[in-house]
Order: sequence, then C-alpha cells, then structure tokens
Amino acid sequence: MDALLEPFKIKHLTLRNRIISTAHAPSFQEGGHPREQYRLYHEEKARGGVGLTMIGGSTNIAPDSPSVFGQLYAGDDSIIEWFKELTDGVHKYDAAIMCQITHMGRRTAWDNGHWLPVLGPSAVRERAHRSFPKVMEFEDIDRVIENFVDAALRCQQGGFDGIELLSHSHLLGQFLSPMINQRQDEYGGSLQNRMRLSLRILESVREVVGPDFIVGMRITGDELLEGGMDANECIEIAQRLSETSNIDFLNILAGAPYDDLGLAGWVSPMGMPSAPHLTIAGQIRKAVKLPIFHAGGISDIATARHAIAEGHVDLIGMTRAQIADPHLVEKLSRGDEERIRPCVGLGYCVDRVNQCKQAVCGHNAATGREATLPHKITMAKIQKKVVVVGGGPAGLEASRICAERGHEVILFEASERLGGQINLASKSTTRRQIWVLQIG
Ligand SMILES: Cc1cc2nc3c(=O)[nH]c(=O)nc-3n(C[C@H](O)[C@H](O)[C@H](O)COP(=O)(O)O)c2cc1C
Repeated sequence: MDALLEPFKIKHLTLRNRIISTAHAPSFQEGGHPREQYRLYHEEKARGGVGLTMIGGSTNIAPDSPSVFGQLYAGDDSIIEWFKELTDGVHKYDAAIMCQITHMGRRTAWDNGHWLPVLGPSAVRERAHRSFPKVMEFEDIDRVIENFVDAALRCQQGGFDGIELLSHSHLLGQFLSPMINQRQDEYGGSLQNRMRLSLRILESVREVVGPDFIVGMRITGDELLEGGMDANECIEIAQRLSETSNIDFLNILAGAPYDDLGLAGWVSPMGMPSAPHLTIAGQIRKAVKLPIFHAGGISDIATARHAIAEGHVDLIGMTRAQIADPHLVEKLSRGDEERIRPCVGLGYCVDRVNQCKQAVCGHNAATGREATLPHKITMAKIQKKVVVVGGGPAGLEASRICAERGHEVILFEASERLGGQINLASKSTTRRQIWVLQIG
C-alpha cells in the first residue's frame, strides 16, 4: 500500500490517510462565521479523500486580535452553530476536521475591528503590519489565556476532532522569540520564561477540554533569522512542550514571515525550491515523541512520498495542492495520479487573501465556487458540437469541460501555439512552472 494512504492514529482518532490540508484563511467567512461557501469548500476536500482538514486559518479569539485577512472569529458563542454544520458536513465523508485558533498579537492592524490597541510581549513593531504594540500587562496575559480557553471550548462544542493553537509568528511565537520578546519579568529572558505563556495556555485549555480532545500547536522549527530562534532552541521548545501531557501533536513551520520576503518562505511561490523546510520538521520529529505535521511547498506526490519514507514527518500537508485539486487523494487512491491538477505555486490564492479577497485558485475555477461550479464534471444530457475561439487558458479550459461533458469540441487558435498569455508569462526564469499542463 502507498504509505501516504496508510491510516494514522492520534490518540483515539484514526485518520484514514496521511494527507492533510493545513490551516489557511480562505476569506470565505461571513460575519466571522464559516457559512455555506466555507462549509462546501471543506466538504469538497473531505469528499475528495483528505485525511484531516484543519479549518479556520488564524481563527481569532478576542476583539484585540482583529482580522486582517478575512479570518473567522471564535470570540463569542454565535460561531458554534456554524461550526456544527461544518463539522457534520465534513464528518459525513469520513474525514477528520480540526480548527486553528490564535491571538495575533502584534501581527495585525490597530485600525481594524474596534480599533483596540494591538498587543505584544514588548513594543517591537512588525514590519508587515506596522502597529506599535501595547506591552502586555499581567491582566492582559490572564485575559488572553481565558480567551484561548473559551475559544477552545467553542471548538469542542462545535464538533471538531481537535484544535491547533497557532504559535509561529503570532502572539505565542512572539513571546518565544528573543528578537521580539524583550521583557524583564517572568515572561521574558530565559527560555522557561518565554515559554510560560504557551505552557499556561496549554494547561488551562487541557483543564477544560479534558484528556481526550486533541490539542496541538503550530510552532516554529527555526526562525532562520539572525537574533531569532535557531533550530536548537526550537527543538528544545518542542521537547519541553511534549513533556507536558497537554499537547498531542506539533505542526512545524520555519522562517520569519514578518515581511513579504519572510512570508514567501512560509507559503513559497513558484521559482522557490520544493519542500524547503522538510528537514527542519524532521529534526524535531527525531527529538520528540509526538506526531509531526508539516506543510511547505510539497505540491507533488513524489515529494510527499519522500517526506514520509525518509521519516521527516507523520502527516503531510498538501494545502495549496488541495486548493488546486480537492480530489487529489481520491485520484491517488484510484491510480489516477497523473490526472491530479497540480499547484504550480502561482501565488494567486495567498496574494488575494493578503488583499482580503477570496482565495480562489488560478488553476481551478471551481475552488470556492462549490455551490455553483462542480469539481466533478458530469455528462451532458444532450451532446452538441461546440466551437471555441481562442486557445488561451480560458478557451482551453472551456474546451476541456465541454469535451468531458461529452460534446464534440472544435477549437480555433490563430497562433502556432496554444496557451495564449501563459506563453509570455512563463518566459521569466522564476515563473516557468506556470506552464504545467492543467489536466483536471
Ligand atoms: C490563502 C492561504 C492562507 C493561509 N493562512 C494561514 C493561516 O491563517 N494560518 C496558518 O497557520 N497558515 C496559513 N497558511 C499557510 C498554510 O497552512 C501552509 O503552511 C502553506 O500554504 C504552505 O503549504 P503548501 O505549500 O502545502 O500550500 C495559508 C496559506 C494560504 C495559501
């Protein structure tokens, strides 16, 4: 059996395979809730065979962590009924579903939401969001811990199989990083002090959700920045976290997404090396006994197989790969690997989200439009002759869909080459991957 398709157990939960979709905010929220569009988007991944879909990228837990890229808001009870509909929808296709929750700390904008002061361990500004954070007082710390606990409970009441606390670059990670945390009190200085907030939150969350509910954390494996946390320190953090009984998995990221360049290391676009941080995740897997998740530029099945075979990870995140093709696992299972619609790292999804627009896909028009555009093409009742004029991306896609619907297609293209403007776009060295065939 393909190792990617083997079941994997976390506590009592058995995932049907090792391919997951990691948290991402697709900006499909309505009023901070995951309503129909959001639910159908994740149901499609579940129908397509994903083992676990982590929803709610950066779901905010408090008013002083306002949304900057269309995130969910789990800071009040109104979200619970929407959570229930979403988790029921995904569970009916036998996939597991968890929710990522976070306080963004300084990684947000003061003039969103209620215009509250942005919080941070110290008054160190982030280049990307540019807010001067208010240095958190002890009352702020206690309040944020309560916010995490309340949001975790709402996720549990909403039917999730577990939660993931986002540490990397958000408030918890900001306390960990000596570059950002310059406190002189018991929350700053030594590693033990910098970890205090994370450990207090995990302990308080565990107390209310009980021993069976799955709680994980998405942490940094190496900030890859002078003055930041290096791999050794991150390994030590992972070890100390794993020594508590309050955590069930770790999800490893690397880099410091404090500006556009740093973000490109996290959500790597085309022209960058494949799976750049895989071995960083692998080092942490060797050092701790917890299941390790990792996503990062792993868009093809061969690289995913390599990651599992070499023991770098337990669960492999193919996030943009499943934005491009939510039926990736199903195609792999039925031996149709070559028909997987590839993610080429166009960057359209993440660029749009950074502008607060919906994370639709440059390679798959049906993504995010599940209510009106099916991912699975069905035969037309009446077959016709269809003439398509122009063999650029739109003309080719229209031809493909018409042909799959059983119509006879005649495509006219004036030039010698199909592909239209993609021919031009792929001329640049770092944009060559754009010319990967979209098979569908
Ligand atoms: C549109 C978009 C939004 C994202 N938002 C989040 C987020 O809110 N929280 C998070 O931990 N990661 C977020 N990510 C990062 C993904 O979880 C993942 O780490 C990244 O896309 C690299 O994996 P991939 O190459 O398999 O896509 C986002 C990614 C995308 C494409």
